[in-house]
Amino acid sequence: MFEKLTPAPPDSILGLTEAFKQDPNPRKINLGVGVYKDADGNTPILRTVSLAEERLLASEKTKSYLPIDGSPAFQRATQELLFGADHEIVTNKRAATAQAPGGTGALRVAADFIAATMPGATVWVSDPTWPNHPGIFKAAGLAVRTYPYFDPAAHGVKFEAMIETLQDIPAGDVLVLHGCCHNPTGVDLAPAQWRQVGEIVAGRGVMPLIDFAYQGFAEGLEQDAAGVRAMCGTGGDILIANSYSKNFGLYNERVGALTVVASSAEAAQAAASHVKLAVRTNYSNPPAHGGAIVSAILNDAQLHRQWEQEVTEMRERINAMRHLFVETLNEKGVQQDFDFIARQRGMFSFSGLSAEQVKLLRDKYSIYAVGSGRINVAGMTEANMEYLCEAIAGVLRATQA
Ligand code: LMR
Repeated sequence: MFEKLTPAPPDSILGLTEAFKQDPNPRKINLGVGVYKDADGNTPILRTVSLAEERLLASEKTKSYLPIDGSPAFQRATQELLFGADHEIVTNKRAATAQAPGGTGALRVAADFIAATMPGATVWVSDPTWPNHPGIFKAAGLAVRTYPYFDPAAHGVKFEAMIETLQDIPAGDVLVLHGCCHNPTGVDLAPAQWRQVGEIVAGRGVMPLIDFAYQGFAEGLEQDAAGVRAMCGTGGDILIANSYSKNFGLYNERVGALTVVASSAEAAQAAASHVKLAVRTNYSNPPAHGGAIVSAILNDAQLHRQWEQEVTEMRERINAMRHLFVETLNEKGVQQDFDFIARQRGMFSFSGLSAEQVKLLRDKYSIYAVGSGRINVAGMTEANMEYLCEAIAGVLRATQA
C-alpha cells in the first residue's frame, strides 16, 4: 500500500520550521510560523504560566479524564474573556463552551459539528485566509468557497466587494471571519464594518464562525473582542473558535475552545450536545494541562492582572518592531513603500513580497517567510533587524532590476 504513495507536500507554515531547524546558517531568521519571540529571540514561558504551573503541581490530585467538553471553570473563564463577565449572553446562559486542543482543534470540532447538523452547508473563507482553514473544513467533508477580503493595492480590506459577495451567500451557509489580527494580512474590519457584516449575515440566515486566535495582540484584550461582541449583538447563532496558544504562549499545550452562541439557553445546550458528539468521535475529551493553566490564571484576580500586563508587553514589542522595520528599510534605501506595515495589526504582515522574492530570501539569506509574502513580525528583534532589512533590500534590488 504505502509503496505506491507519493509524498505529500510539506505544510506551508509548519514545514518552514522543519526546514529552518536544519539550516546551518547562524544568521538564519524564522518569520514563518506565528510564534512570539522576545527581544532575545526566545519564545518564553509567561511568568504567570510558570506560577500557575507551580500551583497546579502542588494541588493536582488526579489525571483522570476531563468531561467531554472540558472543565467548567475553564468554560466560564473563556466566556468571560470573549464576552465580558456581565454580558447578557453569559448571564442568560446563551453560550456553551467546549475546551479543545488548540484553536485548530476547536475549528475541526466546529467543522464536524457543521457537517453533522447543517448538511449541505458551504463554508466561506476570506481571500486570502490562514492556509489551514480550507483543509480543516474539507477534511470534515464540507465545501469551501472564498469571499473577497484583501486589496493588495490599498493594503486594506476590499469591503465593497466583500459585502457584494456576502449578499449572495445562501441561507444556511457558514461565514468564517477572523476575530482580530487577520491571518495572513494583518488587516481587520473596522467596528462599523463588523456591524454591517453582522446585519447582512443575520438578515440572510448565514452563520458566522469566528476564528479568534489573537485576542490581545491588536489593541488590547477588551478592544480586540469588539468584533465578536458586535456579531453577537445581532442575536443570531454564532460559533467562536478561540485559541490560547498565542496570548498565553501555550503553543505546545494545545489549548483553545469552541463556543456556540444560541438564541436561548435550551438551544445552546442542544447545540452543545452535538458538539460533544463531535468531540467524542474525534479525540474523546480534551487534554487537561493547558486548560488548567488558563483557568488558574483567569480565575485568580492577581494572576489575571499580571497576565494582562504580559499580553501588553508582547503586543507592544511587536508594534515597536513594526516601526523599527519600516525605519530600517528606509535607512537601507529601499524605495518601495512599506509604511503600511506599521499600520497592520497582530503578529503578521502581508509584506507584498512575491513568491520569487520569498524564495530568494530563504535561499540566499536563510530568512524564512510564508510563500504568500506573510511575515511574522514577532520574529523580528533589534539584533536581527539590520541583517533582515539588508537582505530584503538586496532581494528587491536583485528582482526589480
Ligand atoms: C500560523 O498561522 O503561523 C499559526 O497559526 C500556526 C499554525 O498552526 O499555522
